[in-house]
This record gives sequence, C-alpha cells and structure tokens, in this order.
Amino acid sequence: MSKPKVILTRRWPRQVEAKLASQFDATFNENDRPLDQNGLRLALEQADAVLPTVSDRLGADLFAGGSRAKILGNFGVGFNHIDIEAAKAAEIAVTNTPGVLTDATADLAVTLLLMCARRAGEGERELRAGKWSGWRPTHLCGTQVTGKTIGIIGMGRIGQAVARRCHFGFGMKVIYHDDFAGDLQDFPALRISKVDQVFEEADFVSLHCPGGGQNIHLVNERRLGLMMRSAILINTARGDVVDEAALISALEQGQIAGAGLDVFEHEPNVPKALRERENVVLLPHLGSATSETRVAMGMKVIENLTAFFEGRRPPDLVS
Ligand code: DGY
Repeated sequence: MSKPKVILTRRWPRQVEAKLASQFDATFNENDRPLDQNGLRLALEQADAVLPTVSDRLGADLFAGGSRAKILGNFGVGFNHIDIEAAKAAEIAVTNTPGVLTDATADLAVTLLLMCARRAGEGERELRAGKWSGWRPTHLCGTQVTGKTIGIIGMGRIGQAVARRCHFGFGMKVIYHDDFAGDLQDFPALRISKVDQVFEEADFVSLHCPGGGQNIHLVNERRLGLMMRSAILINTARGDVVDEAALISALEQGQIAGAGLDVFEHEPNVPKALRERENVVLLPHLGSATSETRVAMGMKVIENLTAFFEGRRPPDLVS
C-alpha cells in the first residue's frame, strides 16, 4: 500500500522531518518560505495531509472547492488561523499539539513579566548602545514582583503553569478568570467571575486564552482603562486578543506602565509605535521556541497522523 502523502508548510526540526519521511510520502518546504494562498490551495489538492503552522491562514474559501486532504495536522496548540467550521464542513479533520508546549510558553510569559518589571530590555539597549555611565542608586529602578498580584485570563494548562511559577517562585497572589476551568487544587488562586475585576485588581495581567471568536479584542480601550497605572500587560496567547491600537494609546497616555508582547495582531508586522516605546518588551512569537518543545510538537503531529491513517481517533482531534 502506498504511503499517505503529506505536505509541510514550513521546515521542521531535522529529526522530526526524518521520522516523517520514514513513515509518509513527505514533501518538505525546502526554502522555509511561507506558502501563499495559492500554495496552500495546491497543497490541499495534492496531499492526503497538510501540516500547517500559525503563520498559515486557512480560511473558508480555501476549503470551498473540495480537496484531497483529509486531515490538517497543525504544528501548534492554537488553531484560530484555521476556519474549523469550514474544515469540518469539507470533512477535513484538524489536530493540534496540546500539552508539550506548556512549560516553554509559561517560561516565556514569566520572562516577559520579569523583563518588564525589571526594565531589562531598556537596560540591555542602553548598555549595547554604549550609554551606561555606571552604577547609581536611582538607575533604571523597576518594580518588585514578590508579593504582587498576577491576574491570569484563561486558566488552562499554560495559565496554570504561569500561575504556579508566580506563586511558588515569587510569592505572588494569583487571581484568575476562566469560564471553563475547574477548581485548582495544588496552589492557592482566587477565581474571579467578572473578567473586568481581574483587570482592576492585578499588578500584572497575563493572557492565556485562545485567540479568535469572542476573545478578539478582549483587551480593549475600556478594559485597559480599568487597569492600574502601575500595571503591566503580558500577552503570549494570540495577538488578536488585544486591540493593538488601544494598547498603544494606553501606553502613550501612561494609563498602564508597560507591556510584554510575544504575539501581535498582524504578524510579522509590529507597529512602529510599539517598536519605538521603551516601556514594552517585544519578542517574535517565541512562546514554544525551545528545541525540545519543537521536536515534541512535531512528534505529536506524527502521533496524530499515524492514528488517523490507521483508522483510529487522533489523540488531539480538534474537530
Ligand atoms: C502555538 O502552539 O499555538 C504557538 O503559538 C505556535 O503556533
């Protein structure tokens, strides 16, 4: 029997590509350039499985004409770049990679929190520019994190991992909002039923909810206005959760003290008004970017594909 044909939209870690090549008739994206809409359409027409990433937009129009592909093995946990309902209507299964990127992403959220609190980006830029004039008591004083309140929006795996780090690592008080999370057993955290209250009370608000749908612009002008002037916003979730224009104006008006952002509304474009600000830390969507995690994500895609083509239910079936 011939092997299922799979098309990858980007380059993946070497050992994962080797395993894919041994199990499937795999086509790799040799030059690692993103596929345009036409490239994605062709991939859907030519392969049994297409393996996209967050940088691919798979909207309803791509599925409209029918396709050979029967499964999208998404390399990543977030899938708001795929029109799930349209894929379902076209009888294309979608899988993702939950669990394996929890620690890496939580680590990065805490990195941003600490960098913002301790003005690490500003200090590094100053030093590299040759502008450091030596130690002095009033130089680049940030804010202490110990004992402060972290407000988590979305207490899923990653939200909980961030909360644990903040509670056990820094003695922070944890408050959170989540429509679905059950009770948390292993650390104290106060569930808040009104999302606005988290914005009002937290020294740091960290976003860990999915993008798209009802969460688009969950952080808007009004909610930014509820935050303390000393508060800091951290986003490692999805860019569309934050109204970027409203955030820029909140930062410009000193309505909040800063922001640490790993995701943006129109990646890879990041507004100049953000790039030019001192009180923001900006990273290029690095949440899951450790070698170990990226290999684990790839292996999870393979696990899902293997199950699918053997006629079993893929463990991480989204729809
Ligand atoms: C994820 O897994 O959702 C990361 O953001 C990378 O896509």
